[in-house]
Amino acid sequence: MKKTILVTGGLGYIGSHTVVELQESNYDVVVIDNLSNSISEVAEKITSITQIPVKLYIGDITDESSLKTLFEQETIGGVIHFAAHKAVGESVQKPFKYYRNNIDGMITLQKVMHQHHVKTIVFSSSCTVYGDTKHSPIAETHPVTEAISPYGTTKLVCEQILKELCRYSGFKGIILRYFNPVGAHPSTCIGELPLGVPDNLVPYITQTAAGIREKLTVFGNDYNTADGTNIRDYIHVVDLARAHVKALDYALSMNQDCEIFNLGTGTGHSVLEVIQAFEQTSGISLPYVIGARRTGDVEQIWADATKAVQILNWTPQYNLHDMMDSAWKWQVALSQNNQKRASKPA
Ligand code: NAD
Ligand code: UFG
Repeated sequence: MKKTILVTGGLGYIGSHTVVELQESNYDVVVIDNLSNSISEVAEKITSITQIPVKLYIGDITDESSLKTLFEQETIGGVIHFAAHKAVGESVQKPFKYYRNNIDGMITLQKVMHQHHVKTIVFSSSCTVYGDTKHSPIAETHPVTEAISPYGTTKLVCEQILKELCRYSGFKGIILRYFNPVGAHPSTCIGELPLGVPDNLVPYITQTAAGIREKLTVFGNDYNTADGTNIRDYIHVVDLARAHVKALDYALSMNQDCEIFNLGTGTGHSVLEVIQAFEQTSGISLPYVIGARRTGDVEQIWADATKAVQILNWTPQYNLHDMMDSAWKWQVALSQNNQKRASKPA
């Protein structure tokens, strides 16, 4: 019989891509999302890819009674937990918003899971838990350090809570530490929907190329790297989504335990290399200037993802050019949809 998986934050960027992969891997999916950073139309877009309806609960995971109702109505076999706020800069300005949503959300979810004897959970963490590392690639055995933002604190605290529940309360947990997720689904039906001015590099690049932003500012070219700009491990969101299905399969088959996996390609790229890859795939010359360093940026970090490759049998399929190509096609589709909406009579 098909298992039903609850995906919290399943209308968001990574969640929506994961729902597609789960449905295509023969899981039934139930989504809970409060639309704080997504729109309900994403559910229809997912269905347009998979031809399978998405069972959607509009609700907040910090609300215990909504979660209880969901768990009473559905036979949940496991959970993939994405729902959280994720803007590092905003978390510095509004720390309580982050503690409340991300930590309270995790605790409430796990309490209701516990009450309903659902013990399998895959949790979205981040390479931010490694802090300002000096030597990449970084393996899961690398010590985590004090967080550099309230957002990072929420990931560290949630990781710790999950580890304890696995140790003492029979949970089976997988912690996935993402490096830099980018790109969009090849259908161009789903992708990242940044609200306002994007903080992240790739949406800023695509919005600049689309004429929404005047120019990109590269945050510093005086780092100790080959071209002076920061190095990151960019990973295609579809590869990331597929890793969640593998992680879930693995979690469902393991005994009480907690496992941590890095998810990255294992290759670092500088900001200038990303710009160059974008220009080559899109054929557009990107206006950019070199600016000051951004406070809090780590100089260089990329993953040792050997554990995910060996244990989850997961290998990323997409390279940097594929990532830029899909990100750009998604931006073009978004701009066309916005134009259509704007030209419709009121
Ligand atoms: P996203 O904002 O696109 O998706 C999160 C979804 O959760 C949104 O649809 C939002 O409406 C929903 N949500 C937030 N709080 C909720 C709540 N209390 N109840 C119900 N729904 C709620 O973010 P994303 O990029 O898809 O990230 C997913 C997860 O991955 C997050 O936990 C994030 O911290 C983590 N992560 C993201 C990145 C990244 O660069 N995108 C990197 C590392 C880790
Ligand atoms: N960058 C620019 N100009 C921009 C935006 C970004 O030069 O307009 C540079 C940054 O300085 C950095 C690189 O592009 O060197 C990547 O920046 P992003 O903001 O896209 O990603 P980060 O690596 O800073 O942040 C990501 C996730 C966070 C997570 C963090 C962990 O977005 O959620 O990794 O290190 F916490």
